[in-house]
Formats: sequence, structure tokens, C-alpha cells
Amino acid sequence: MTSSDIRKKYIEFFTDQIRKHKEIAPAPLVPENDPTTLFTSSGMQPLVPYLLGQTHPEGKRIVDSQPCFRAEDIEEVGDNRHTTFFEMLGNWSLGDYFKEDQLKWFWEFLTEEVKLPKEKLYVSIFEGDDSVPEDKESYEIWKNLGVAEDHIYKYGVKKNWWSRSGTPDKMPVGEIGGPDSEVFYDFGKELSFHEKSDWKNESCHPNCDCGRFMEIGNSVFIQYIKQADGSLKELDQKNVDFGGGLERITAASLNHPDIFQTDLYLPIIRIIEQTTSKKYEGENKSPMRVIADHIKAAAFLINDGVIPSNKLQGYILRRLLRRSATKFYQLTKDMKFLGEMLKVYHAILSIYDGLYGMEKRENSDSYLLEKNYKIIFDEMDKFSKALARGFHEIDKIEKMDGKIAFDFYQNLGFPYEVTEELFRQKGQEIDREQFKSEFEKHRELSRTASAGMFKGGLADHSEVTIKYHTATHLLHQALRDVLGESVFQKGSNITSERLRFDFSFDRKMTDEEIKETEEIINKKIEEDLKVDRMIIPIEKAREMNAIGLFNDKYAKEVSIYAIGLDFKLDSDSKDQRSRGGYYSLEFCGGPHVEHTGVIGRVKIMKEEAISSGIRRIRAQIV
Ligand code: ALA
Repeated sequence: MTSSDIRKKYIEFFTDQIRKHKEIAPAPLVPENDPTTLFTSSGMQPLVPYLLGQTHPEGKRIVDSQPCFRAEDIEEVGDNRHTTFFEMLGNWSLGDYFKEDQLKWFWEFLTEEVKLPKEKLYVSIFEGDDSVPEDKESYEIWKNLGVAEDHIYKYGVKKNWWSRSGTPDKMPVGEIGGPDSEVFYDFGKELSFHEKSDWKNESCHPNCDCGRFMEIGNSVFIQYIKQADGSLKELDQKNVDFGGGLERITAASLNHPDIFQTDLYLPIIRIIEQTTSKKYEGENKSPMRVIADHIKAAAFLINDGVIPSNKLQGYILRRLLRRSATKFYQLTKDMKFLGEMLKVYHAILSIYDGLYGMEKRENSDSYLLEKNYKIIFDEMDKFSKALARGFHEIDKIEKMDGKIAFDFYQNLGFPYEVTEELFRQKGQEIDREQFKSEFEKHRELSRTASAGMFKGGLADHSEVTIKYHTATHLLHQALRDVLGESVFQKGSNITSERLRFDFSFDRKMTDEEIKETEEIINKKIEEDLKVDRMIIPIEKAREMNAIGLFNDKYAKEVSIYAIGLDFKLDSDSKDQRSRGGYYSLEFCGGPHVEHTGVIGRVKIMKEEAISSGIRRIRAQIV
């Protein structure tokens, strides 16, 4: 079965007359209005407010196919099944059906639509712990569906619990999650193309990670929310959050354990084989898989407007492109990766051919394509220069060790493989373990740093963070009142300690302007205005001049937050009248306080430029 057949069948299966789901458009890979994360890494991410109880404009049964990117998996890529980019087939019950229907339907989809043999499927359930009981219900459901008992495994929180932050102890306050039930495909121990054979001497099981089993779908029962005292509280609304990797389900349908041999990667692998004059076999497989995955992920990020830089999403894109270039070098021992990368990029476009807003095959000379080519071209040009500088520096070094090699890698982006090869020619072997240990040290540091970053923002739905969120809406409107309507939000990041708001404006604000903005916000807080949420048709929202970042081009209905309805508008409130009489009207999924009076006093601590035409304000509740 082709990947397109499976994608189509899945959506049709869930939108049919029996299951009655509504298909929603996928969210962008780079969420524009969610300061808590750099990328959309699962289908549920854009749906968090609805899993928490808000009404979704499309109802309680949702289905989609969502491009996802997981930067944290970058080092895992190279085996038969790990990638940073993948397509997640997802369906959700927002407080509607639960375990029984979910497990039955997914089973039916796999066995009757994709026609996977039942005996090749294994499942797992949550074994329970001190705070959450064993999922006996799912066990019984699987048994009743005809799954043999020796195909049902039980695991603890490490394997059968899902939240965006992992196990319950890692979940921040306000985070949602729950026990899950996974389905695995067994590629069989007898297959000769099996990659690792370590299972042969031990008893293998679905989660043993040898590559024989592949997880192809995960039904999460989002049923809990983390409390400030560290406990888990049952949500009023019991949800299903299902996600299954299209690449993996396609591999299972072919009974082939290498996702890079499916139609979602094969055209890319073929181009890499041609351009490197190497075959996809033996030790070439791993670097070829990295190139295929990374350039695919890069193509999607570029399509979403990311450009290589030293920060945030741009930094990850830079790493993807440079790592692919390094792998090309590893395969060919020359620096002609630039033209090759562009050919790979083209192969990727031909696979998706217009899907997810990617450029269509027939538009091969379009303006957009040229622009994207140039992004890759420029980055590779910079990388070649960094390498040339590295070569120059490295020539001066008499004795290379792992630590210096790491410094070259870290500071100049100089690939380890290149350093190794240079020095091998001089008859020196570098201590790879020393390089690895430096690398691990650094990785630990950056993990801690990013954990710090992601802890903040709205993933934490604590009371004070919610106050900051409403204060941000007041700030946005107050800035427009004071500076004019050229002010637009460019980004925001909210923690329980402060708010940060980026907006378009081309000069420094004067002290008076800052003071006036602050005064308006505090006046609106003192007036204790009511905060209302509305779900209205998009045209209506636009008519009412709702402001703010709004991503979903395809939505028919949108969620709007409105603050302070005032019928007694005086003559200079023309602007407010056009907003239906509300002081502030913004596209937003929430959550917000109910009355502004609870916010407290807001103080602007800093106003500065962050790039040309974009200013940043930091403010605190004092
Ligand atoms: N949200 C679940 C996952 O990403 C389905 O695995």
C-alpha cells in the first residue's frame, strides 16, 4: 500500500458515517502563537485548550494528518525507524468516546483497512503505579478484540504514559497526560534483513529496542492534569489522543522494517545513491538516512518560513543542513555537497507535490522555490567558509585530541568526521571517546537550558501565568492606542515571572509613551473588565477587527477573546466601536482570567529593539 493510500484511508475511516469525525487542517510546524515550544511535535499540541475543556469549533471528534518535528531525536536518526520529521495520523475524542471505541477502531483500521495480519500485531498497556491504577479495561478490550494474551504486554510510566513532557514527575503544573496503549508490528526474528541481532540471546519484547518490533500507533487516554502539590488530578473531561506515524504504518504494510525503503523516502535515497555513487547498503545506510531525514525536515521548516540562524528554530535548521553536509562528506570525501543537497531537496518536493503547502512539482522554477534554494545555497556557502577557516586553523595543530576536535566542532561547525579524516592522513588517531564525552557534557548543558526555556510560557497553566496572558492582551491593545495601528504582535513568551511581548514598531518608545501605555493597562485592570470567549465565523472576526496572530488559514470558525464591553462609548472611541464595543479583541485559544481586576498592577520593566522594526517589552505584575 502506498503512503498516500494509507493517509487517505485513515481520514476517510474516521470521517465516515459510523465514526463521524471532522477533519481539521494541520497546524504549522512552527507554532506562531505558542511560546512554550519551538516546533509542533505531536498532533495534540494545537489541541491542548480543547483537551482542557474548551469547545472546539468542529465538535468533539477530530481527525487530521499533522507534520511533526522532534528536534530532541536528532541524534537517534540513522537506524531503521527514527526520524526528526514525520507525519502523525491523529484522531481525538474531546470528552466523547473513550477506550472501547478507540481501541476497536484503530484495530479495525489496521487489520481491515491496511490489512495487517493480526498475528503480527502486539499491544501494550499501562501496568499502574502508586497514583494511577493498572489499565485493566484496555487489557480486557484487547482480549475481546481477539489479541492473544501473549501479545499483550504491560509496562510502567516510562513506556505507557504520555504527556508532552514525559513521565508524571516531569510534567509541569497544568500539564495534561495519561496512560496509553500502544500497538507494535512484529517484523519477525527470522528476517534476514534484520539489522541488529542482539535479541537472539535474550528474550525480545515490543519495547526492547532491537528493531524487530516497531511502534505504529499510540492511544493516549488524556485523563489527568498535574497539580501544584505534585499530584495528578482527574480531568472533568476524559479525552482520547491518538497518534500513529504514517512512515511506520507504511513500512508495516510492506512488511519491511526500514521506513527509508517506503515511498516517503525511497526517491530521496535513490538521489543520494546517484549523487554519491554509493549504494544504500552496509555502513552507508546510516549517513544516507540522516541526509534523507534532515533535508526533508529542513525543507518543511524552510517552507514554514524558518531561515538558518544562531537562535531557536533557525539554529535547529542550521544544524540539520550542516549535519547533512557532513554526512555527504563522510560518504564522498569531497566538499561538493551543495549541488547534491539541492537535488535531494527537489526529490522531497516531488514526494509531497503540493501537500502541506509544499511547492508543487510542476512549479519547479517558481519564485518560492528559487527563494528556498537560495536559503540552502547561502547556508552551505557559509558552511564551506567555516570549513575553510577550520582547515586553516587545524593545519596549525600538531597533536589533535578529542577535546580540541570538539572545540572545532562546537565553535566552527567543523564536522568530527572531517577532523578525523585529516588527522588520519597524518597518521594520528583521535580519541573518539574523549570527543563523545565532551559532546555529552555539552548536550546535558543544552538540555538543561532548553528545559528551563520550555518550562515557562503557557504550558504552565498556573493562576499567575494566566494573569500574565490576559495582561499581554491589554498591553497589545494599549500599545495600539498609544503608538497607532502599525503595532502588531510578532511574538510573545509568558512565564509565571514575567511577560515578554514583541511587536512591530520602527523606533524606540519615549518615556511618556511607556508611561501612558502602562497607565492604560492599569486603568483597564482597575475597571475590572469582563473577559469573554467567543467562537465565531472567521469573516465575522475579521469584520470586527480582531487582532493577534492567527495561523489557521482554513478554519471556518475561530476562537476570540474579548475584554471589556462598553456601550457608553464616547466620540473618540471610534476604534473601539469598530471592535464591537470591546476594548480588546484577539484571536486566541486562551486560557484567560474571568475579570481583569484579579491581575494586579502591571509595570513595564524594559523596552528594547530585537531586530530592525521589531521592539520587545518585558513587563511584570508588581
Ligand atoms: N500524543 C501522542 C504521541 O505523540 C499520541 O505519541
